[in-house]
Amino acid sequence: ETPVIVAIDGPSGTGKSSTSKAVAAELGLSYLDTGAQYRAMTWWMLSNDVDVDDPAQVALAADKPVIVSGSDPSAPTITVDGADASGPIRTAEVTAAVSAVSAVPEVRRRMVELQRAAAAQAPAGIVVEGRDIGTTVLPDATVKIFLTASPEARAARRGGEIGAKAAADLAATREALIKRDAADSGRKTSPLAKAADAVEVDTTELTLDQVIECVVTLIEEKR
Ligand code: C5P
Repeated sequence: ETPVIVAIDGPSGTGKSSTSKAVAAELGLSYLDTGAQYRAMTWWMLSNDVDVDDPAQVALAADKPVIVSGSDPSAPTITVDGADASGPIRTAEVTAAVSAVSAVPEVRRRMVELQRAAAAQAPAGIVVEGRDIGTTVLPDATVKIFLTASPEARAARRGGEIGAKAAADLAATREALIKRDAADSGRKTSPLAKAADAVEVDTTELTLDQVIECVVTLIEEKR
């Protein structure tokens, strides 16, 4: 059986990670969180005094960190130069800087290389989640999904993840999320975009289980 390659793209807060991990686990596929890789690169830059607002500095540093992702969907790992980065990559500092770092072409070239290698090595196939997987990283993917949700639903989900309770926290989360999506959608090199042949799934009114079922069905139809 030929490996099944699943590309799952969309903005933040649409349930990409939860969906991708569950689908990979259910179908016995490998898993890759490309956002975690861009976050790892960003964490390394912040830790090594690279000015993340200076694209020339970011470009020069892009080849330096060694970023390794574990492919088990039930226990995904990420290391930078051998150190566990799973905690530090989720801080507000990294989240605020990641869009600037990921807009630099040298960073993207490096990440796309890692991502294609991971897909080529996955024995049964892989679920790869990100922003440009269907359009740029794996244009020949077996199945391409583009997840969307209303801004309110996305802010509420992200707010739940980071423990934001107050209305003011949710409003701030919503603003930060919209700003990051605008940066990701507006950049020159492989912006966040739905591939022409991707299936769009609006998750606003769906439970996580319903989204998982929908994606599994789409994969089973194609494989
Ligand atoms: O998915 P997550 O929110 O962790 O992604 C963090 C950031 O990494 C995104 O806001 C985007 O700037 C960048 N990213 C990207 N291309 C991808 C995945 C993530 O530019 N394929």
